[in-house]
Order: sequence, then structure tokens, then C-alpha cells
Amino acid sequence: MICEAVVLAAGLGTRMQSETPKVLHLLGGRPMLAWTVEACRTATRRAPTIVVGPESEVFRSHFEADVHFVEQVDRLGTGHATMQAQETIAERSDLVLVVNADLPLLQTDTLRRLIDTQIANEGPLSLLTAISPLSRGFGRIERSANGEIKGIIEESHASPEQLAIEELNVGAYCYRADWLWDHLSKLPLSPKGEYYLTDLVAMAVEEGKSVGSAEVKDATEMIGVNTREHLAQAEEALRKRINRHWMLAGVTMLDPATTYIGPDVELGADTVILPNTHLEGETQIGPGCRLGPNTIIRDSSVGGRSRVEASVVEGAVLEEDVEVGPFAHLRSGARLGRQVHVGNFGEVKNSTLGPGVKMGHFSYVGDATVGENANVGAGTITCNFDGERKHATEIGEMAFIGSDTMLVAPVRVGRGARTGAGSVVNRDVPDWTMAVGVPARVIRKLEETE
Ligand code: UD1
Ligand code: CA
Repeated sequence: MICEAVVLAAGLGTRMQSETPKVLHLLGGRPMLAWTVEACRTATRRAPTIVVGPESEVFRSHFEADVHFVEQVDRLGTGHATMQAQETIAERSDLVLVVNADLPLLQTDTLRRLIDTQIANEGPLSLLTAISPLSRGFGRIERSANGEIKGIIEESHASPEQLAIEELNVGAYCYRADWLWDHLSKLPLSPKGEYYLTDLVAMAVEEGKSVGSAEVKDATEMIGVNTREHLAQAEEALRKRINRHWMLAGVTMLDPATTYIGPDVELGADTVILPNTHLEGETQIGPGCRLGPNTIIRDSSVGGRSRVEASVVEGAVLEEDVEVGPFAHLRSGARLGRQVHVGNFGEVKNSTLGPGVKMGHFSYVGDATVGENANVGAGTITCNFDGERKHATEIGEMAFIGSDTMLVAPVRVGRGARTGAGSVVNRDVPDWTMAVGVPARVIRKLEETE
């Protein structure tokens, strides 16, 4: 049976008080809408149709993956929005799943249960409900004495008795396609001048047909986002969901409430995360690491048993047993080999540090290649920018760069070579020689070691 999904995202979301459409606000680093779209895609195994308002270009730019867009030019309510999808999906679908875009925490399994409920239902539609004393503006489910669904009352039209009903309309529905398309055009105009999708329930009941329902058990799934306060609640619920997943997979968190892990992050077992650590974007962390406190790691990969303390790591690759921080900044294109140590106030950009390199204090290394076991002394700077262009620096294996050395690129310091404290190196220093001064000149040959 073919089921296609329609995601309703054309509402204005005025309660967000924002220039940005509500469902493009970020949740876990992704537009809220993307969560709903992906849950629908997985549940139906087909490209979802998204109903957007006239500013559809903003939306398109957020979706590379396969989705269909349709526009709702006049925002005349959820029923009218659904109608806009008819032309794209009417022909090919037996069932239609309709989901409000502001329900980002709904899970695929829950949508699957809704679809299965409708497959088993003889009537034309099924919907998700939840029991909660916190109504948050949701429509109330009215049932008859024998428990059958009779209708949905919007909060703004409900009587005090109806407001006391604790069964809520979550905002996800599954319909028999032919019945849906046939009845959408017959929806009555609500007192607010909108066509409510929810009124289809009463229409089915009037025709003597049964309305199925599946209950959402995890209350966090129905956090609908209408305000920024709701968005923060959704963010917290998502954080708990992700953190629980990783703790079950063997990751220790000293304080999950201040541990922020993005949805695309991968973590190895026995890694320990200390408070106020943010792992973002496409980040992979190996096993047995210790991260934080006060650390941001974004779009980076960190090898097993590494430690990163109070530092910022962006677009970097760290191999195993690397130590970073406190207060280091690794920027895009930083590659740190095994057992590298980058200490306080070290910055590395677009550079490779070979295995065992030590860079303990106050250094900037940009556009450089640093050979295995080289020692980068305190305050070393690669002067890589001449005001117009960037130039490369090469530091050989086992080189020893004296404190406060300026390496004026392009320049090469040879294997096993040394520079004196405070030297300004603007000419290559040959292997196994010592250069000192301003500008630095070779003063002697060194004994070669392994
Ligand atoms: C809707 C339901 C309510 C339910 C609640 C839960 C209706 C009439 N009411 O109320 O019973 O409890 O969701 O989620 O459906 N949208 C459009 N075009 C429009 C209007 C809305 O695309 O013209 C989209 C919005 O972007 C949003 C979704 O439809 O994603 C729901 O609209 P919203 O205004 O948030 O409805 P609620 O008042 O929350
Ligand atoms: Ca809503």
C-alpha cells in the first residue's frame, strides 16, 4: 500500500516574533521542519510533500534531499493547506499521512503506528492523540459514551467542559487518499475564516464511519512549537533523548543537562564528557576520550583516548592519544598526528602536526607542516600572511623551535635544526644546524641523532 506524506509548513508562526519562518528555527542544529520531514520520509519510504507559504525560496534552500514543494498562497487554514498537495500526490497514493511541521519530536515509529492503525481501520482516517493535563493550545478529542471519536474541538472554540478534556489532538493524521481529496473541498468555513483539517473528523462521524486513533506515549513527542519557550522545551527534550542514547551506548556524562550533542555526532564507548561541552555538526569521537569541561568540537574527528579540555576545535582531525588545551583553538584543516600535545593558547590552522609534536604554549601555526617529534617553543609564530597572500612553513622532524621564534613564510626549518629564542627566520635553516638572531643566521652545525 502506497502512503505519501504531506507536511504542513505554510503557517506564519507569528507567536515566534521572528523574521525567520517558525519551522526554519533551529532545533538540535537543524531546521525544525527537517526533523518532521525526515520522520515522514522514513515512515513512508517516499519523498514527502511540504506545503509552504509564498516565501518558498527560503525553504527550498534548506532542502537538498528529495522533497516536493507546493505553495499555499493564501493561508486559509490547515485543511486548505492540505488541499494544495492534491495535485502532486493524488494519483499515486492509497494513503496520505498529514503532519503539522511544528511537531519536530514526533518519531518515525509513532508515525508508523499511525499508518498501521489506519491500514487496520475500516473508516477513512486515523489520528494521533495524547493524554496530557497541559493542553498548550491543542485541540480536544471528543468521544462518545462508548469511546468512539466524535470530533475535535479547537481550544479557541471550546466550552469550559470541553477545555477540561485531557485527550489532545497531536496534529498527525492518516487518511484514505480518495476520501481525503473528496472531502477537503467540502470543509466548512470556521468562525475564524479558516478551513480546519480537524473538521474532517466530524464529517467522517456524520457519515457513520469510524475514526481510528493511536496514542503517543512519550509526552515529549508532542511538544508542538508555537513560541520560543516551546522551542527551548523541545531543545531540552531532544538533548535528553540524544544523551540517553549515548549513555546507553557506553558514554559517561558528568552532567547530561549541560552536555550538548548534535544529531550527527558519533561517539565511542568509554568516552567521558564533562560539563558545558558542545559537540556539533559532523563530528566523530573515538573511544576512551575525555572531553571538556567548557569545550566546543565542531565538524571534527577525534581519535581514541584523546583529551580536549576547555578548547575550541573546528574542522580539525585529531589522531589517537592527542592532548589539547586548556584554551587551545584548532581551526579548519588542522591535522594532529598521534600523541601530539597542543597546550594553552595554541592556535593551529590548515597545518599538519606529525606524531609526537609538542606545542605547549602561546603559538600560532598556520599553513605549516611540522615533522614528527618536533618541538614548537613557547610563543612561536608562523608569519604566513604578507598582507596579500598566504605562504607555507615547513618544520622538519625533530626540529627544535626556540621560544618566540618568528618563521617568516615561505620558509623551511630542516630536520633536527634549532632556532634560538627570539629569532626571526626569513631564510631556510638547513638540517641539523642552529640559527639565531634577527634576521636569523646559521651559527653552527649540530650533531645528528635518531
Ligand atoms: C493545530 C490543530 C489542533 C492541534 C494542533 C497540534 C487545526 C485547525 N488545529 O492547531 O487541533 O491540536 O495543530 O499540533 O488544524 N499551516 C499551514 N497553512 C495554514 C495554517 C497552518 O500550512 O493556513 C501549518 C502551520 O505551519 C503548522 C500547522 O499547519 O505547521 C498547524 O498550524 P497551527 O497554526 O500551528 O495550528 P494549531 O493552532 O497549533
Ligand atoms: Ca501548532
